[in-house]
Amino acid sequence: MSNLLLKNGTLITPEGRKEADLLIENGKIAKISKDIVADGAEVIDCEGQIVMPGVIDTHVHLREPGVTEAEDFITGSKAAARGGVTTFLDMPNNKPLTDSVANLEAKYELAEGRMVCNYGFFIAATGENILELKKADRAIGVKLFMSDSTDIAASGDLDEIFEFLQEKPLTIHAEDKDRIEARKKQFAGVKDPEVHSLIRDDDAAYLAVKKALDLQKKYGTRLHVAHMSSAKEVAELRKFKNEKVTAEVTTHHLFLTTDAYAEKGSLVQMNPPLRKVGDKDALWDGVRDGLIDNVVTDHAPHTLAAKGLSYGEAPSGVPGLETLLPLMLDSVNHGEISLERCVEVLCSRPAEIFGLSRKGRLEIGCDADVVVVDMEREENVGEKGYQSKCGWSPYDGWRLKGWPVLTVVNGEVVMKGGAVEEKFVGEAVA
Ligand code: DOR
Ligand code: ZN
Repeated sequence: MSNLLLKNGTLITPEGRKEADLLIENGKIAKISKDIVADGAEVIDCEGQIVMPGVIDTHVHLREPGVTEAEDFITGSKAAARGGVTTFLDMPNNKPLTDSVANLEAKYELAEGRMVCNYGFFIAATGENILELKKADRAIGVKLFMSDSTDIAASGDLDEIFEFLQEKPLTIHAEDKDRIEARKKQFAGVKDPEVHSLIRDDDAAYLAVKKALDLQKKYGTRLHVAHMSSAKEVAELRKFKNEKVTAEVTTHHLFLTTDAYAEKGSLVQMNPPLRKVGDKDALWDGVRDGLIDNVVTDHAPHTLAAKGLSYGEAPSGVPGLETLLPLMLDSVNHGEISLERCVEVLCSRPAEIFGLSRKGRLEIGCDADVVVVDMEREENVGEKGYQSKCGWSPYDGWRLKGWPVLTVVNGEVVMKGGAVEEKFVGEAVA
């Protein structure tokens, strides 16, 4: 492993911006100061560019084991490298479901030596596997599907689960099963994908979040609310947020609304679904003012063939690893959010939430997961193709300003100028 010297960049550090060099030795951040001289280190000039911690995406679906025609660990982690994501946390809705210690260990084994970025895996709470949850030391968190998003809604009593999770985050997919079932009957036979947002409406999300927050209050659970999508959830969270409750939002709920169905149809069908402009605005307010802790992709690739099926048959989910950081940087360029807040929601907060103590900030001794971004670079999404095996993006053709130009994982360059190197330097974080 050669040492790496990033010269003349503007660093976003916990103490603020610094015009400085950053030296990486043995996979760690070794020195931050002006005019570093390091014999034998590879030198990369970052003049005029921003140097920030690598992005930590706490919500992806890499499909392995399972639907590997849509994505696998190699292609998914290359998509991450392309997008400046240096660590991701992968959900358990695999085939087979990651709902036992044995399946969790098998998944870590499968990933060994095949990841370009760092990774951690969730275990699923099914309502019937509490003993497995208690033994799952290597689970980065526990995922609870409160409704049937991917055929794996938890059944039975949720109390036991909420009572057990006091330190490790319980990440919830909050949509109310009964409400969705009733609305499905009401809209039966409608084939326009837009009906998805009516069936799984904001009340479905609100009812489930309310139920989860009630249980949190009762048991003091360490709760992480996944993909907040509506103004109603934002208002509820404002009332009940406490130090053991955190929440995330996806890029698709920040950048798309139900207007996107007209052009994209089932390509923009996901769970929870797209909402109205007012919801999007409430989510942005939450991101800016600190109510919402982090921004994620919910990267959920599906093949174009599967997405081409009719409503009811087509699967829910969109890819996002290659566009998370560029979308947020473009928003920085448009004055919608500060670069510092961006680094909090993409890097430092997700590290804190999931206990990744040596990640998420540029500080001596931290893991050398670093991204260099060019705030002036303009590119159309997809103009150089996609790393993700699914090969498409809901933002295809969008012109964005602000792109990652260098991604470093554990001190190794894995992406330069948009080109990804197939170097399997990623390590398990749990
Ligand atoms: O849209 C979604 N897609 N929501 C989920 O909850 C699961 C995901 C997937 O795995 O495809
Ligand atoms: Zn998800």
